[in-house]
Amino acid sequence: MNEHAPPSETLRTALTALLDGLPPKQAAGAVERLIENYRGTTPTHTPILRNHADATAYAAYRMPATFEAVHTALTAFADAAPDWTPAGHTDIGGGTGAATWAAAATWPAPRPTTVLDWSDAALALGREIAAAHPALRAAHWQRARIGTALTLDPTDLVTVSYVLGELTAADRTAVVDAAAAAAQAVVIVEPGTPDGYARVIEARDRLIQAGFRVAAPCPHSAACPIVPGTDWCHFSARVSRSSLHRQVKGGSLAYEDEKFSYVAAARFPATPAAARVVRRPQIRKGQVLLDLCEPAQAPDESGSPGEPEQLRRRTVTKRHGDLYKAARDADWGDPWPPQI
Ligand SMILES: C[S@@+](CC[C@H](N)C(=O)[O-])C[C@H]1O[C@@H](n2cnc3c(N)ncnc32)[C@H](O)[C@@H]1O
Repeated sequence: MNEHAPPSETLRTALTALLDGLPPKQAAGAVERLIENYRGTTPTHTPILRNHADATAYAAYRMPATFEAVHTALTAFADAAPDWTPAGHTDIGGGTGAATWAAAATWPAPRPTTVLDWSDAALALGREIAAAHPALRAAHWQRARIGTALTLDPTDLVTVSYVLGELTAADRTAVVDAAAAAAQAVVIVEPGTPDGYARVIEARDRLIQAGFRVAAPCPHSAACPIVPGTDWCHFSARVSRSSLHRQVKGGSLAYEDEKFSYVAAARFPATPAAARVVRRPQIRKGQVLLDLCEPAQAPDESGSPGEPEQLRRRTVTKRHGDLYKAARDADWGDPWPPQI
């Protein structure tokens, strides 16, 4: 194992090695079972990842994508709090550890790390995979059930990634409250669907009530300007497809785009983006159309009445010079304007 390779490559190599031990048909069968289970009605009363094959299927099939989504969210958070590095990390519902890999990719120095999950199989596999990463070798993999009885030791960073959708409403509230009580920063990631976004907004509101401020993706901590049911805020992370992906999904595309929603909030001061690009920019002849989430504008001395927080389309044209060049390079999810 090359200890200097980027974490995403180390993770991929570790996952490929994992699959070497599993006959392709068995691996594909476990993935299909997993997809079927996740289609079923959740929450469940017992872990979906019941054994080694389930956990391996999850790790091989989903972990590269959840890793990229969480890494993108944590990077946006780090951009808003450049002087902060978590001195400790607890990953709730951490499964095979995607968010611990993402935290190690965002802030490389090792830190005390605890992964909590109710699936022994996921925890055991997570520990095995983490042996490939020097910063994660000492992590604690601990059995815990999310619920009103969950209490956490104080820590700097809590992540809850792709978990809320598996919980009852009461357990969703309990896990967000436990995270808020224990951490200086909480990052929640969910699938980029209308339901995933709704769960993120519910958690965001709760974190703000608990005294947190939003660091990313929102440029403000006021209510989300999206009218419920009309749209959903989500982003996209590119993930290289493994041979298992190609085998299960068919086709030969070398990558897929993982859609996710997230919120990163902190008790300490952070500097959110001035505005954020919330859709893929549209490049037209001589102009770029940017859909932005913008904070409220205060009334100014020139008589402008001020504006509430809102989603707004801005057109950046060649006349804007350097800003136009920046707009052509801007990506969905980026802060706007960039630091030129
Ligand atoms: C979709 S997986 C996400 C795993 C990991 N966080 C990631 O991003 O790849 C959901 C995880 O939540 C765990 N989980 C679901 N309900 C739970 C509960 N009530 N208590 C503890 N863990 C739970 C599952 O065992 C599983 O590992």
